[in-house]
Amino acid sequence: MGNYVELIAPCHFGLEAVLKREIQDLGYEIVAVEDGRVTFKGDETAIARANIFIRTAERILLKMGSFKATTFDELFEGTKAISWEEYLPRDAKFWVTKATTNKSALFSGSSIQSIVKKAIVERMKQTYRVNRFEEDGNEYPIRVFIFKDMVSIGLDTTGTSLHKRGYRQLVAKAPISETLAAALLMLTPWNKDRVLVDPFCGSGTFPIEAAMIGANIAPGMNREFTACEWGKVVPKKLWYNAYDEANDMIRHDVEMNIQGYDLDPEVVKCAMANAKEAQVDKYIHFQARDVKDLRHPKHYGFIITNPPYGERLEEKEALPALYKTIGESFKNLEDWSMYLITSYEDAEKHIGRKADKNRKIYNGMIKSYFYQFMGPKPPRKDK
Ligand SMILES: C[S@@+](CC[C@H](N)C(=O)[O-])C[C@H]1O[C@@H](n2cnc3c(N)ncnc32)[C@H](O)[C@@H]1O
Repeated sequence: MGNYVELIAPCHFGLEAVLKREIQDLGYEIVAVEDGRVTFKGDETAIARANIFIRTAERILLKMGSFKATTFDELFEGTKAISWEEYLPRDAKFWVTKATTNKSALFSGSSIQSIVKKAIVERMKQTYRVNRFEEDGNEYPIRVFIFKDMVSIGLDTTGTSLHKRGYRQLVAKAPISETLAAALLMLTPWNKDRVLVDPFCGSGTFPIEAAMIGANIAPGMNREFTACEWGKVVPKKLWYNAYDEANDMIRHDVEMNIQGYDLDPEVVKCAMANAKEAQVDKYIHFQARDVKDLRHPKHYGFIITNPPYGERLEEKEALPALYKTIGESFKNLEDWSMYLITSYEDAEKHIGRKADKNRKIYNGMIKSYFYQFMGPKPPRKDK
C-alpha cells in the first residue's frame, strides 16, 4: 500500500469542529469537514493512532474510493475499479455492514449493499483467479455513503464502535454516549485544574471521560480494533508502537477535583464500578445526592451534566420542578459555569435564566441542546 491513506471519521452531528481539532492535534491534515464526518490524510500509522487516541469519532474508515453513481451499473463498475486486492487478502471475510444514502438517485440500502459486495467479489475473482472465496480469514467490514450521487466506500478499521471504551460494564438508564460526553467536555473551557461536578452522573460517563482527558488516558488504549488483524494494511508493529505511545503519555501525577452525584444510590454504585474499570476511580468522588442539596465550597467550578429529559410521561410531568431546582442550586454556586445537554425544550424557562450560548446537538436520534451558562474566569494567579 502507498504511504498516505485517506481516513473518514464519522461523528455525532454538531461535533465536527471538535473532531477536526482532535485530528489536527494528532498531526494529520484535514481533507474535508462534512455533516457528521471529517476526512483526513495520514500515513498507515494514522489508522492505529486515530483508533487509539481520538475521543469524539464513532469509527475510523479507510477510504477506498469515491465516484459518482446514479445507476446500479455505475455503482458496480465504480466499486470494481477499486484495487481491493491491495487491502483484502484472498481469505478475507468481507461484507457491507451499512449503506447510507442522502439526496441521491440510489436509495435502497440493501440493494447497494449487495451490488457493492458482488462488485468486490468480481474484482477479487479476476485478481486471485478463483471462482469461490472461502472467506474464512480476518474480517473486513465495509461501509458505503452516498451523498448527492457521490459514492464513498470505506473499510471499517474499528469494528465495535469507538464509543465502546470498554469501561462501562454497568449502565444507568439513558446513558450518554462516551464519545458525545468527551466532545461536550472538550467544547467547554473546563480543564483538569478546575472543579467539575456532574449532579446527574448516572453511569458516571462525564466524570470518567473528564478524568481520562485530565490524566491523558487514550480512550482506545485498552481495547482492540478490527484492523489490528490486518497485517497487510497496518503491520502489528505499528499497533504496538501506538499502544506504547498511549502508555507513555499518561500523566500519573495529576490532581483533579471531579465529583459525580445522583439521586439513586444503586446508580452511584454502578458509576463507581465503571470508574474503577476505567482506572480513574482515584480522581473522582461519587456520592448519592439530590440536586437540591448541591453545594460546593470551591469557586469557579463547572457543572457539566445531562439531567433527565423526560423519556417517560410521568418523568415529563416532573421536569418543570426539577429544572427549577437546577436553577436554584446553580444560583447558590456563585461564579460557577454550567453546561447541560437536554432535549427538554423548556429547560431555560424553568431554570430561570437564559443560556449565554445554545448549541443544537443530536444525541443519537434525539434533537438536544447544549446550554452554556458561562461564569466569570478565575483571577490570574500571581507568579
Ligand atoms: C439522563 S440520566 C444521566 C445519564 C448519565 N449521563 C450517564 O451517562 O449514565 C439522569 C440521571 O439523573 C438522576 N436523577 C433524577 N432526578 C435526580 C435528582 N433530583 N437529583 C440527582 N439526580 C437525579 C437519575 O437517577 C439518572 O441517573
